[in-house]
Amino acid sequence: MLFKQQALLRQKLLVLGSLAIGSVLYLVARVGTLDRLQPICPLESRLTHPEPEQIPLRSLQFKRGLLHELRKGNATKEQITLHNLVQQLPRAIIIGVRKGGTRALLEMLNLHPAVVKASQEIHFFDNDQNYARGIDWYRRKMPFSFPHQITIEKSPAYFITEEVPERIFKMNSSIKLLIIVREPTTRAVSDYTQVLEGKERKNKTYHKFEKLAIDTNTCEVNTKYKAVRTSIYTKHLERWLKYFPVEQFHIVDGDRLITDPLPELQLVERFLNLPSRISQYNLYFNVTRGFYCLRFNIVFNKCLAGSKGRIHPEVDPSVVAKLQRFFHPFNQKFSQITGRTFNWP
Ligand code: A3P
Repeated sequence: MLFKQQALLRQKLLVLGSLAIGSVLYLVARVGTLDRLQPICPLESRLTHPEPEQIPLRSLQFKRGLLHELRKGNATKEQITLHNLVQQLPRAIIIGVRKGGTRALLEMLNLHPAVVKASQEIHFFDNDQNYARGIDWYRRKMPFSFPHQITIEKSPAYFITEEVPERIFKMNSSIKLLIIVREPTTRAVSDYTQVLEGKERKNKTYHKFEKLAIDTNTCEVNTKYKAVRTSIYTKHLERWLKYFPVEQFHIVDGDRLITDPLPELQLVERFLNLPSRISQYNLYFNVTRGFYCLRFNIVFNKCLAGSKGRIHPEVDPSVVAKLQRFFHPFNQKFSQITGRTFNWP
C-alpha cells in the first residue's frame, strides 16, 4: 500500500516537474519572437504617417507570421486587402558604396520590425530607361508593408551616378540617405574581385589589379580606373551636398559592420528615428562563413549569399601602400565633412 502511494506521488511529481520545465522552455523560446512584436507601435509618435493600426490580441499570432512574410517580401492578395497593405516609396535609401557592405546593411536593417526592404536593386534613379518609366513604376517595385513601416531600398550605383542626387531630391527632398563605406583600398580590391569573378565565369582573361590601379607610364595611381574613382568618397559626396544638407546623410562604417555589426545598426536605428529593436539575439557569428549571420526568430535565420565575402587576390604591398597614401587626404576631407572617423591608414 505504502509502496503504491509512493509510486503515485513520484508519478505526480514527475508530471508537475515536466510541466514546469516545459513552461520555462516555452517562455525562453518566446522571448526573442515576442520582443519582435513590440516595435510595431512605438513608432506612432515619430512618423508623420497615418495612425498605426491597433492589433487585436487574438490576431497577434497571425500578425507575427504576416510581419515575417512582409520582411521576406511576401504578401497574399487577401492579406493586402485585409490589412490595407501598401506599396510605399522608400523613406530611406542606401545609396552606396558598392562593395561597402550594402547588402549586409539592408538585410540587417530588415531585422527591424518597422523596416521592410526592397529585395532587388531597383536602379530607378541611375538608369535612364527606368527613370523614364515614372515614379509609379518605382512605387510598384516596392514591397507591401503596413503604413507605419519604413521601406528601404539599396542601389549602390546611386552614389556615383551624376544625375541621381537631383532625381532623388525631386522625389523627396527630406529623404534619409545611408552611405556605407569601407577602407578605400580594400573596397577597390573587393570591387576588382567581383569583376574578375565575372570575367572568369565567362572564361575571359583579365588584368591584374596592380596593372589597373597604377598607371604604368607615370607610376602614379590611375584615377581613370573606376574602382579607384569610386573609393574617392568625398568627391561623390560633394555632388550630393549640392542638393541635401549633411544632416540627411548617415555614414555607416562598413569595416565595423563586418566585425561588430550591432553598434553600427543601433546608430542607424537612431538616425531613422526608430526605437532600438535589433539586438545581439538577431546577430550571430558563423565560423564557417567568417561573418555575422541573421537570426529573425527561433526558427528562421540566414547568412548572406556566398558572393558576399569573397577571397581577395593578393596585391603587391607597395601598390597597397601607394593607394593608401593616395586616398589619405580624400579620407580626411570625408571625415571632416561627415564627422565620422575611421580606423583607416
Ligand atoms: P567582400 O566580398 O569583398 O568580402 P556589397 O553588398 O556592397 O556588395 O558588399 C559586399 C561586402 O559586404 C563583402 O565584401 C563583405 O566583406 C561585406 N560584408 C559585411 N557584412 C557581411 C556579412 N555579414 N556577411 C557577408 N558579407 C558581409
